[in-house]
Amino acid sequence: MPLTLNASDPAAIEQAAQRLAAGGLVGMPTETVYGLAADAGNASAVSRIFTAKGRPSDHPLIVHIPPAEAGDWRASVAQLAHSVPDFAVALMAAFWPGPLTLILPRRPEVAAVAAGGQDSVGVRCPAHPVAQSLLKAARAHGVLGVAAPSANRFGRVSPTTAAHVAEEFAELGDEQLLILDGGACPVGIESTIVDCSRGHPVLLRPGMLTPAQIEAACGQPLRERDEAAPRASGTLESHYAPRAKVRLMSGEQIQAALDVLGQDAKHIAVYTRTTQRAARAVVQRRMPADAAACAQELFAVLRELDAIGVKLIWVETPPEGAEWDGVRDRLQRAAA
Ligand code: TXA
Ligand code: MG
Repeated sequence: MPLTLNASDPAAIEQAAQRLAAGGLVGMPTETVYGLAADAGNASAVSRIFTAKGRPSDHPLIVHIPPAEAGDWRASVAQLAHSVPDFAVALMAAFWPGPLTLILPRRPEVAAVAAGGQDSVGVRCPAHPVAQSLLKAARAHGVLGVAAPSANRFGRVSPTTAAHVAEEFAELGDEQLLILDGGACPVGIESTIVDCSRGHPVLLRPGMLTPAQIEAACGQPLRERDEAAPRASGTLESHYAPRAKVRLMSGEQIQAALDVLGQDAKHIAVYTRTTQRAARAVVQRRMPADAAACAQELFAVLRELDAIGVKLIWVETPPEGAEWDGVRDRLQRAAA
């Protein structure tokens, strides 16, 4: 089993920072989801991430950095990225530390393997206090940035608690993975990704920041991604998949299907905002009416329903409105 340490103990943070500096793997809480972290400047450390996740080596990772000293974001990304456009700096100023990843032209100090061979690099300054303490402590040991994908096996649901991470990598020993337990992640779905390497901002992955917020902060229209955009594993059609089959339906469709099955409904869970009449065997979870609350619990709910052993998860389609874009995106991928 991996070693899990309580992140409120400063000695645990220091131990984790030393692991990173020595080329080891650390389960790192962030405000979005838990990351599987390694020194972004150490190619063999980064390749351990790909092996542990079973992730194809051409899928780039996000590099995490501590907050800028004196708020100078341009200086703080300068060692990882070159030719950083003004609109990207405006986005950093508006949303960092926070759930936003920016794709920028990569400097050679970032291991090419961390960037999946791309000439760009994804950079994010997380808002979670444990992530920030770890990134600062690692820097004191010479670690410039920390590469961290979500700490799940390739294609599976992202982890939002330390226990989820331990479950995903149960076969790794305590020498191979140290997990910092920083509690449940407050945002719950992965960061919004904006490509800033093409002269104009392009939305690669929706998250909890809305397009309107991003456009207001950078003063430019946000373009949708096109075919030329680099491959992003979070943008593969089938991703975030639980073992159970997920289907998105309206509340009425779910009720109609439950009515047809009646007492024969078995191995089914429903996750709905509307109240459903269902046989007792049907597992019912109430979807929060608030997008942020739904995002926060979404992956934990999918994992919990998987653990119960249901075969079908019928999810009520989220409401329209940009604040639901991130949740809608993850559910559509879980259902694909
Ligand atoms: O919230 C998050 O972003 C979490 C936490 C741990 O920070 N991380 C995360 O990492 O979701 P991951 O690897 O599961 O998803 C990162 C996404 C992938 O879809 C990857 O392809 C994309 O970011 N990405 C990273 N670097 C990129 C680059 N240089 N160009 C294009 N896409 C990139
Ligand atoms: Mg992921």
